[in-house]
Amino acid sequence: MTTKSVVGIYPGSFDPITNGHLDLIERGSRLVDRLIVAILRNEEKRTLFSLDERMEMLREVSREFPNVEVGAFDGLLVDFAARSGATVLLRGIRAVSDYEYELQMALMNRRLNPRIETVFLMAGEAYSFISSRLVKEVIKLGGNISGLVPVSVENRLKERLLLT
Ligand code: PNS
Repeated sequence: MTTKSVVGIYPGSFDPITNGHLDLIERGSRLVDRLIVAILRNEEKRTLFSLDERMEMLREVSREFPNVEVGAFDGLLVDFAARSGATVLLRGIRAVSDYEYELQMALMNRRLNPRIETVFLMAGEAYSFISSRLVKEVIKLGGNISGLVPVSVENRLKERLLLT
């Protein structure tokens, strides 16, 4: 008997990774055999951190999970998933407000490739209010973001937003 190994993709912008994302990576890594955290390479969207910086931060903080790797993609997510042999797309839902956008994407992705299934994980309650956007806003305005992002990411945010 052959056992099928399940590959999952956790896609996003990760500008930068938060502890909410990290919680999802940890829990997602237990659901699949291999989890690829994939950053969208989007030239049109202005990001605080470059693609390389975001990949580096993701690699740093996901090093402790042996079945997690970091990648980047452009074009359609389902095409990247198919190329990577993935059958699962992992997304987190924090609140009802996330649901509509996520449902739309999941249904579009299913229409584009019905063999790829979107799996939603509910954000851990301690992380359900965290977003990359708010973290950047708070630190820029002098607020305390400790505990919301990994320490290495907090240091990079301070360097980028407070020392310039
Ligand atoms: O973290 P984000 O910014 O909410 O992630 C959005 C992401 C990267 C998952 C989404 O924009 C995406 O999958 N883009 C790839 C383009 C694509 O496949 N679009 C059609 C399906 S909705």
